[in-house]
Amino acid sequence: MANSFSSTGLASMDAARVGHEGAVIWLTGLSASGKSSLANGLERALVRHGYACYVLDGDTLRKSLNADLGFSPSDRRENIRRVGAVAGMFADAGLVCIVAVISPYREDRAQARRLCAQGFHEVHVAADLQTCEARDPKGLYQKARAGELAEFTGISAPYEAPHRPQLYLDTAREPFEVSLGLLLNYVLDRVPISD
Ligand code: ADX
Repeated sequence: MANSFSSTGLASMDAARVGHEGAVIWLTGLSASGKSSLANGLERALVRHGYACYVLDGDTLRKSLNADLGFSPSDRRENIRRVGAVAGMFADAGLVCIVAVISPYREDRAQARRLCAQGFHEVHVAADLQTCEARDPKGLYQKARAGELAEFTGISAPYEAPHRPQLYLDTAREPFEVSLGLLLNYVLDRVPISD
């Protein structure tokens, strides 16, 4: 079915062509919670199953489309608005768009859901702060604790966890392959390939 982005009403034709409906799989969670690794792992697995996918990653987009934005609440809102709009377009074209952004504010995620119409699936990548800080792959938590990085999510800026995500992945306790398997099975169930 076409969503609000479809100017032509051809979205259902896209679904027939790629063999499944478009969808947005929205991964939200703290920095270093595992969003990007899960997004990339999910994309690889879905492609093997014959899906058409695209990953939108916050870190990557902040070097291009969103290079003009910082981390104030209003810049994050604009970041999420743009990512939500682009994700909605990919879904309208019939792809499974996998989004990996912190998206710390509930209201901003709700707006992204509205922009994406049907087919929006919120996944909480729920590693706790202590775990993310211990991982600290880019040394950003250390900088934030030292006061060298302002408005850092979880340290000096809030993270509003989803109340009722469609899927909850405890990436602090589950091995990566378990989280990825749960995510893959969720998508295979909810966005089936048509016969
Ligand atoms: S969001 O909050 O607006 O959704 P987004 O997912 O696009 O954030 O970008 C987060 C990435 O930016 C982090 O993974 C981290 O590498 C980097 N980053 C730099 N400064 C900050 C900050 N103050 N808070 C959070 N992430 C930051």
